[in-house]
Amino acid sequence: MAPFFLFLAFFLLSKPSPSASQRQQSTASFSSSDSPWLPMQNKILLSPNSTFAAGFYPVANSSKHFNFSIWYYKLPRNITTTVWTANKHDSPLSTNASLVITATRELRLTDSSSRSNLWPGAPNATNNSTRLVLNEDGNLVYDKWESFHFPTDTFLPNQSINGTELVSQNGKFRFLNSSVLSFNYLDNYWTSDKVFGQLNSDGSVNQGNDVSIISADYGVARMRRLTLDNDGNLRVYSHDESLGQWFIAWQALQESCRVHGICGPNAICLTDSSNSMSCVCPPGFRRSSTSGDACERKRKLTSNTKFLQLDYVNFTGGSNQTNLKVRNLTTCRANCLARPNCLGFMFKYDGQGYCVLQLDRLLYGYWSPGTEVAMFLRVDSSETAETNFTGMSRVLDTTCPVRVTLPFPPRESNTTTRNIAIICTLFAAELIAGILFFWAFLKKYIKYRDMAQTLGLEFLPAGGPKRFTYAELKAATDDFSDAIGKGGFGDVYRGELPDKRVVAVKCLKNVTGGDAEFWAEVTIIARMHHLNLVRLWGFCAEKGQRILVYEYVPNGSLDRYLFPAGRVASSGTEAEMGPAQDSSVDSEEWYFPRWAFDKVFKEMRVEDILDRQIKHCYDDRVHFDMVDRMVKTALWCLQDRADMRPSMGKVAKMLEGSVEITEPKKPTIFFLED
Ligand SMILES: *[C@@H]1O[C@H](CO)[C@@H](O)[C@H](O)[C@H]1NC(C)=O
Ligand SMILES: *[C@@H]1O[C@H](CO)[C@@H](O)[C@H](O)[C@H]1NC(C)=O
Ligand SMILES: *[C@@H]1O[C@H](CO)[C@@H](O)[C@H](O)[C@H]1NC(C)=O
Ligand SMILES: *[C@@H]1O[C@H](CO)[C@@H](O)[C@H](O)[C@H]1NC(C)=O
Ligand SMILES: *[C@@H]1O[C@H](CO)[C@@H](O)[C@H](O)[C@H]1NC(C)=O
Ligand SMILES: *[C@@H]1O[C@H](CO)[C@@H](O)[C@H](O)[C@H]1NC(C)=O
Ligand SMILES: *[C@@H]1O[C@H](CO)[C@@H](O)[C@H](O)[C@H]1NC(C)=O
Ligand SMILES: *[C@@H]1O[C@H](CO)[C@@H](O)[C@H](O)[C@H]1NC(C)=O
Ligand SMILES: *[C@@H]1O[C@H](CO)[C@@H](O)[C@H](O)[C@H]1NC(C)=O
Ligand SMILES: *[C@@H]1O[C@H](CO)[C@@H](O)[C@H](O)[C@H]1NC(C)=O
Ligand SMILES: *[C@@H]1O[C@H](CO)[C@@H](O)[C@H](O)[C@H]1NC(C)=O
Ligand SMILES: *[C@@H]1O[C@H](CO)[C@@H](O)[C@H](O)[C@H]1NC(C)=O
Repeated sequence: MAPFFLFLAFFLLSKPSPSASQRQQSTASFSSSDSPWLPMQNKILLSPNSTFAAGFYPVANSSKHFNFSIWYYKLPRNITTTVWTANKHDSPLSTNASLVITATRELRLTDSSSRSNLWPGAPNATNNSTRLVLNEDGNLVYDKWESFHFPTDTFLPNQSINGTELVSQNGKFRFLNSSVLSFNYLDNYWTSDKVFGQLNSDGSVNQGNDVSIISADYGVARMRRLTLDNDGNLRVYSHDESLGQWFIAWQALQESCRVHGICGPNAICLTDSSNSMSCVCPPGFRRSSTSGDACERKRKLTSNTKFLQLDYVNFTGGSNQTNLKVRNLTTCRANCLARPNCLGFMFKYDGQGYCVLQLDRLLYGYWSPGTEVAMFLRVDSSETAETNFTGMSRVLDTTCPVRVTLPFPPRESNTTTRNIAIICTLFAAELIAGILFFWAFLKKYIKYRDMAQTLGLEFLPAGGPKRFTYAELKAATDDFSDAIGKGGFGDVYRGELPDKRVVAVKCLKNVTGGDAEFWAEVTIIARMHHLNLVRLWGFCAEKGQRILVYEYVPNGSLDRYLFPAGRVASSGTEAEMGPAQDSSVDSEEWYFPRWAFDKVFKEMRVEDILDRQIKHCYDDRVHFDMVDRMVKTALWCLQDRADMRPSMGKVAKMLEGSVEITEPKKPTIFFLED
């Protein structure tokens, strides 16, 4: 025993302290007999195991200014993290400040500049012997008063969040009602669907009776804190002892630019690949001379205006941001032009007619492809600046395939008049034919242009799908000779493009639903870029043909590997799939997640999706919950929208069964629904 205590004593004595150079006096409590406590005394109050310390802490770069703070005592000085401050963030204390427990048992923090008590809550104890102590969890306690009830920018594990609020150190951002992030109290830019209860030491956050926020390092024993940072984002930090630093284990907003108030009026917030933010001016604007992060118009708007297109830019601070739901871009533009206070409009090329006017002001602009929106910025028609926000590329192919050739006049012709007559006749015929061809082309072109405008084909991503002619695809597939699949909504052929790329060409049948659905499908698939998804390389829409050209995946889809050859009777047309022993399914339409979804949630036959090898030992009463949980988790991971998919931490919890899993939506990727 004795050696252990010796070791412990040595350990405690040799612990690095924030100001080892000066004689530092540490105490376990502060009482009226210790009063007054002055900044120059260099005294700190330690928690029982020295995790936290409290006291007058010198403000960065100054030995004459202090905050009365609580900080992690065990962390090296260069990453000192304060978790609580008594004085207001914008008024540091001078060397004349003092903390006393008065004769009337009031805990008083004063500075020379003012006699008022700066201690939050100005607590009075009921007992003369009451002391100020710092608990091991970082809670500073004086009788009934607790610092946990007066948080500043940080919540610690087991601190109740209910009824309190956080303010970022710079005073710009607040976390209100345990659920809302707000800029200047006025603009809420993030709302949690559930109210925060408390941060747990395992990295989860209680929300009501539920735990729905789980940090990336959930379950590991680490020091953690929930902090509202100066960039307006709310984050869970975990301390990695081996690296000696804090890392972000969860954050409220994935895109920092979505925080309101990062940039000033008219400016657009951009993040680069390293996630650092900058404020840039839109075309036609320059940096404001009065405010650093704001932009001002180069030319005042007159009655003659035009629009500049800024792709993927969203402004959110207009005075009325109602979605007008219009038919087309022209209508949205007309709506904006009709109002003198309309500074631009946002339009989505998804066929849903999303149209939001920007009235009176342009605030909180940010660039993000996730918005899928194009901002049309109103500028004076004399403005010469060109847009440099061009995230989407024009794909419409406007080359004219019509070629007119003049026949040579017959050789045996010697009379000039006859030659002239022939030439004139031919010329007239060519002219008429030319005009007819041109007229037909123009009609077609206008039709496609309008359709493309309405549906956003102009805005497919760079390197997006190419428009093929029917003849090109006919040649590529050797007149559609190599069928690799037949399905309910079309046949699939193998083909090879002139550049040697091998493709799967899917000719859609019965596209009676109209062109709109086809174009919508093309645009949606084209926008998806994912490692594990087959890419759409192009399409063809002519002569009543609707054809999609995909990357050719020689090995077929992943489910082929899950259910190996022995169990798949691949005649790649009709396939009998592993788990579906009793039913043959049309291979082309067969998409495992969708099939599994129907089995589990429509037909309620979980046992049908079990692998043959484990099916015999499946017992409905014993295993149903587990299988149900696994299926739901898998389907949540397959959701089309990335923000619907759970984090790995959450997945672990879902599989573990410690959170309730709601019913997922049916996965739809890739399929034209009938
Ligand atoms: C302090 O540390 C000791 C030894 O690790 C532990 O037994 C004790 O529970 C800790 N005290 C507190 C208040 O955490
Ligand atoms: C402290 O000094 C550094 C460099 O001298 C400076 O970058 C930083 O802004 C200063 N901090 C404060 C709070 O004044
Ligand atoms: C703090 O200092 C230590 C050693 O002096 C160093 O290894 C570590 O990288 C520093 N941390 C930061 C955040 O500067
Ligand atoms: C300490 O005071 C300075 C100066 O007022 C302030 O900038 C800083 O945010 C304060 N620190 C904490 C942790 O509140
Ligand atoms: C501290 O108090 C002394 C004496 O009252 C005064 O001269 C000095 O200006 C004060 N310092 C500050 C920073 O207020
Ligand atoms: C504590 O007592 C002081 C002076 O008597 C008073 O100003 C203050 O409001 C009291 N605080 C509380 C929380 O009642
Ligand atoms: C508490 O302290 C005050 C002033 O020191 C004294 O007047 C009072 O009698 C004390 N009360 C008790 C219960 O000891
Ligand atoms: C939060 O506090 C309010 C009032 O203080 C109380 O009514 C409510 O039940 C609390 N909610 C939770 C989740 O503790
Ligand atoms: C567009 O041009 C403006 C003015 O030249 C510039 O400030 C801004 O950074 C540019 N934006 C982008 C996205 O490059
Ligand atoms: C916002 O605009 C829409 C469409 O113009 C209008 O119906 C609505 O009444 C407006 N709302 C307010 C609060 O002005
Ligand atoms: C847009 O819709 C309006 C009716 O809402 C229609 O009159 C107009 O022709 C359409 N414009 C285009 C380019 O389709
Ligand atoms: C623009 O941003 C606001 C606030 O973040 C959001 O509510 C809105 O949905 C965004 N619009 C688009 C098209 O993403």
